[in-house]
Amino acid sequence: MVEEFKVGVIGAGYVGLVTGACLAQIGHRVTCVDRDEDRVAQLSAGRVPIYEPGLEEMVVRNARRGTLFFTGPGGLREVVRAADVVFIAVDTPQGEDGSADLSNVAAVAKSIGSVLAAAPREKPLLIVNKSTVPVGSGDYVSMLVCDGIDEAGGAGEPAEFRVVSNPEFLREGNALYDSLFPDRIVLGADSREALEAMRSLYDPIIAQSFPTDLDPRPKVSVPLVVTDLASAEMIKYAANAFLATKISFINEVSNLCELVGADVANVAAGIGLDERIGPRFLGAGVGWGGSCFPKDVAALRSVAREYDYEPVLLDATVAVNERQRRRVISKLQHDLHTLKGKRIALLGLAFKPNTDDLREAPSLRIAGELDSLGARVVGYDPVAGKAAARLSPGLRVVFDPYEALAGAHAAVVVTEWEEVRNLDLERAASLMDDPGLLVDGRNTLDPDAVRAAGLLYRGFGR
Ligand SMILES: NC(=O)c1ccc[n+]([C@@H]2O[C@H](COP(=O)([O-])OP(=O)(O)OC[C@H]3O[C@@H](n4cnc5c(N)ncnc54)[C@H](O)[C@@H]3O)[C@@H](O)[C@H]2O)c1
Repeated sequence: MVEEFKVGVIGAGYVGLVTGACLAQIGHRVTCVDRDEDRVAQLSAGRVPIYEPGLEEMVVRNARRGTLFFTGPGGLREVVRAADVVFIAVDTPQGEDGSADLSNVAAVAKSIGSVLAAAPREKPLLIVNKSTVPVGSGDYVSMLVCDGIDEAGGAGEPAEFRVVSNPEFLREGNALYDSLFPDRIVLGADSREALEAMRSLYDPIIAQSFPTDLDPRPKVSVPLVVTDLASAEMIKYAANAFLATKISFINEVSNLCELVGADVANVAAGIGLDERIGPRFLGAGVGWGGSCFPKDVAALRSVAREYDYEPVLLDATVAVNERQRRRVISKLQHDLHTLKGKRIALLGLAFKPNTDDLREAPSLRIAGELDSLGARVVGYDPVAGKAAARLSPGLRVVFDPYEALAGAHAAVVVTEWEEVRNLDLERAASLMDDPGLLVDGRNTLDPDAVRAAGLLYRGFGR
C-alpha cells in the first residue's frame, strides 16, 4: 500500500505538470498551482497547453479519479496549508549576465513563508526545489521562506519547514517515461527526516511497484542518490554541461573530419561502442539548444566567474556550438553563393523532435541570420510552427513540408522529426529548384538516397 502524500506543485509548466501528473499516477494527491490563470483554466478543463506525448491522457485520467487538481495563485495558501510536500517547479530563465534568474523561485519561497507564519502543523513542511537552481539556492530558499514568515508576522510560533533539492532530468518529448522510469533520483538535504520522507514519496518509482502497461518493465528498480544540498544542485548542472560538451566535442571532431576526409558518423559509431564513451549525444550537426542546456551552461559559467575561476572547457563548449549555427550558413553560401533572394526551407523548428518548445532553438537563430542576409526563409514544423512565426518575424511558416520545399533553392534539416526523416525525396527534388541543395543539419538522411533523388547533399562531417 502506497503511503499517500498531499503534494503541492508550484509552476505547472513542462516540469511541474509532468511531476504533478506522475506523482498523482503513483498514488499521491496533487494540486498544481500556476500564476497563469489561462493555463489553469485550460488544465481544469482537461486541456494540456504544451505538447508532450501522453501527458494530456495522464492529466485527464488523474483529474477524473480525483487525485490531480489545478488552481491559480489565489489557491496557493490553501495548497501550502494542506500539503505535506510542496515542489517548486517554476522557470529559472537566464538572466542578462548569464546567471540563473531566481526571481520566480524567490517569489514562491516568500509566499510559502507567509503561509507558514500563521499555520501550525504537525510535521515540518517539505519544500522541494525541482527547478534548476545554482549551488546555494537551497539555503537561499530557506532564507526567503524565513523572510516571508517574518514579513507576515502573525501570532504564535511559525510552522517548521525543511528544504530539499530534487533536480529534474526529464527530456521533453519523453517526459513521462523519464519521470516514471528515471535513470536515478537525486535528493539533497541536510535533514535525515526530510530525506526519509522523500524516499517514501518516491518509493513506488524507486521500487518500480506502480502498475504499468509496459511489458517488460524497462526498469527493475531506480537508484537513489542521497547527498547534501550543494552536491544535488551541482549534479544537475554537471549533467547538462557534460551532455552539451559531448555534443560540442563531436561537432569539433566533425569539423576535423571534413578537413581530413573522414566520416563523423562512422567515427561516432566507432567511439560510441566503447562503454566508457557510449553512443548517445554523439550526433554532429547544428548543435544544442533548448530550454535547459544553454541557460544551465551559462549559469555554471557565471558561477565560475563569481569565484574568479575561468571555465575554459565550458567556454569552448559554447564557442563550438555558436560556430555550428554559422556553419549552416557557410554550407549554403558554398553552393548557392549569395543568399539574397534565395528561398531557403527550414525543416523542423522546435529545438528537438516531439516537443513544441522553441526556447533557444537553433532554427530561430538560423532563420534570423538568413533573413539578415536577404534570403526568403520558409519554415515547417509539425507542432511548433505557429509559435515560431510569432517569435521570428522574418520567417514564413507553412504546415506542410512540401509547401516549404516548393521553389526552394535549398532546404536545411534543423529538427529530425519523423516527418522530416521520412521525407519523400523524389517529391522534394521535383518541387525544389534544380538541383536543390539539402543541408542535413542533423546527419539524419541517407546521403546516397538524397543524391539518388537528384538533390545535392551536404551533411556535417561526412
Ligand atoms: N523543460 C525541461 O526539459 C526541464 C528539464 C529539467 C529541468 N528543468 C528546470 O525546471 C524548471 C521549470 O522549467 P519548465 O520547462 O517547466 O518551465 P516552464 O516555463 O514550462 O514552466 C514554468 C511555470 O511556472 C509558472 N510560474 C512562474 N512563476 C510562478 C509563480 N510565482 N507562481 C506560480 N507559478 C509560476 C509559469 O507560469 C509556468 O507555467 C526550470 O528551472 C528548468 O530549468 C526543465
